[in-house]
Amino acid sequence: MGTQKNQTDIEAKIIFIMGVSGCGKSTIGKLLAKEFNIPFFDGDDYHPKENIEKMANGIPLNDNDRNGWLKTLNLLAKKQLAKNSCVIVCSALKASYRNLLNKDIKQQTVWVHLAGSFDKINERLNNRSNHFMPSKLLKSQFEILENPEDALQIDINLSPKKIIAIIKSNLMNTSEFGLFGLGVMGKSLCRNLANNGVKISMFNRHVNDTEENVAKNFKAAHAELSNAKAFDDIASFVYSLEQPRRIMLMVNAGKTIDLVIEDLLPYLSKGDVLIDGGNSNYKKTKERLDYLLSKGIHFIGTGVSGGEEGALKGPSIMPSGNIKAYKSIQLYLEKIAAKDKNGLPCCTYVGPEGSGQFVKMVHNGIEYVEMQLLAEVVTIFEAMGKNLDEIASILESWKETAGSYLLEITNIILKKKEGKDWLVTKILDKAGNKGTGNWATIAAAELGTPNTLITSALFSRYTSFYKEERLQLSEKITKTEIPKLQLSINDVYEAYQFARIINHYQGFKLINEAAKKHSWNIQLSEIARIWTNGCIIRSTLMENLVETLKETNNILTDTTLLNSLNSYRYGAKKVVSQSVLNDVNTPALSEAVQFFNGITTAYSSANIIQAQRDFFGAHTYQRLDDESKKNHHTNWN
Ligand code: 6PG
Repeated sequence: MGTQKNQTDIEAKIIFIMGVSGCGKSTIGKLLAKEFNIPFFDGDDYHPKENIEKMANGIPLNDNDRNGWLKTLNLLAKKQLAKNSCVIVCSALKASYRNLLNKDIKQQTVWVHLAGSFDKINERLNNRSNHFMPSKLLKSQFEILENPEDALQIDINLSPKKIIAIIKSNLMNTSEFGLFGLGVMGKSLCRNLANNGVKISMFNRHVNDTEENVAKNFKAAHAELSNAKAFDDIASFVYSLEQPRRIMLMVNAGKTIDLVIEDLLPYLSKGDVLIDGGNSNYKKTKERLDYLLSKGIHFIGTGVSGGEEGALKGPSIMPSGNIKAYKSIQLYLEKIAAKDKNGLPCCTYVGPEGSGQFVKMVHNGIEYVEMQLLAEVVTIFEAMGKNLDEIASILESWKETAGSYLLEITNIILKKKEGKDWLVTKILDKAGNKGTGNWATIAAAELGTPNTLITSALFSRYTSFYKEERLQLSEKITKTEIPKLQLSINDVYEAYQFARIINHYQGFKLINEAAKKHSWNIQLSEIARIWTNGCIIRSTLMENLVETLKETNNILTDTTLLNSLNSYRYGAKKVVSQSVLNDVNTPALSEAVQFFNGITTAYSSANIIQAQRDFFGAHTYQRLDDESKKNHHTNWN
């Protein structure tokens, strides 16, 4: 790591390192040249013979003597500039000397002044075994030193490593934050960062014919990116960042993340922070975090929600991992995050390991359900004989009490026409997915939490995918041709609201169970808070849950919510039963009703299951009339 050096964004720059004798110019100059892989020149090596002789005889050089020498160094600088950057060390104590040194190349010159007190430098010089400089001579240097105001002043008491880091970040105009991967989300985040005054470097790979000059073209297309740096070369991108580096990866989740990590590793240094802002699997995040930690690199798995617009104007951000590493990126994430109603960023440290991506995964699970419920609501209204414009105005009227981002967009979608027709009626009815709903279902199964709505929404998407089979079967099965749903708009509203509460109950339960299992100490109210803006599942219900979850981790223990469920229950049951009777497909609404029925049943049918298990597998059962909780077995035959 950190061994393959490349020239950073310092093209056509001469770095003059100046200061009195003994300030450490040569040491720092050599290190810097090595760091950037650019040539190093010691000004003292360019003195004409006469000057060398004079100095050897202990005669100090006058301005006249220096004139030719400084001109020689100026020529050297110009010559170098035509090819490359370089480091030149030279005492350059007077302004007039510096004017000669950077004559005609002022714009391409940077000055670093290694500054220290007389006593410190005197002590240093006298400690050099093969060197002795009379303090009188050093004093005279201090006397003629004209402080270079436009130079970067660096205290020589700092370690060489620190000095190099300061030079790099200040003089090389390094960026504070790097964004790797300029897809839709990556691009929007770049603009968001730049709009918030963050100095950024942007990288997109080069692929012949398909991805050429992506970063450069993107920069050119947006005024706010005029100060951003654009790269298609990984090394230059990494070296353009101040250390410890902050690099956000916005690439496809899955194998690509691992490949990108391997591509970056050779150029990273200990303490750098990689942020994965994709929808990665939380278990993989933990593996990557451990792997990178073994190399001294921090890994922050971060949920980012809000789609393209959210990423540009303010997403909801769910970071996790090492808390210290998070602190070094917190400022940036908070800057670009959406703000809640109190002006606080919709970004919070979720917890260790992959907890941020777990929470984002559940966010998506809740999102799947909210989408599915709206789709079912539309289906019911259609079955009730309403056209899409009429349905849109019904949804519009629900905004006040059931407002959400997804309700809003569905309303807009329903109204969208293509010619005389509604656009949605032309969309192939196969719902895609990228995996987070699937993982949420797996996680629920692993943890043993009944996330029946996520599962139902996911499996509805899967069912939709069997288009051919659906077509064939639909021809063989007789269904109600003209449904006669005996329902009011309010019944549907109640069913929708009922199922949404169950959805949020199940979602937060899943997070809570995972937090307990992994000791993540997740604050559910904080999660609800960062989901009140920027993300896809923002809603008035979520606003209310912020308060509810301050009191309890189980929203069904909240009397207000329980009362709401109770009052919506009748409508929900009516909608589900009428849908069933009329062959209207409403899996998530049905599941909500059934789940509520199950979770509010004091004595369930699980006794029969236990008896069956004991019958064929001697799995034993406990008895209600035996408080010892002893396992019993019966020979059932
Ligand atoms: C968000 C979204 C976003 C995306 C998901 C879901 O919060 O901004 O959840 O992450 O929409 O990838 O996509 P699928 O529906 O394709 O699974």
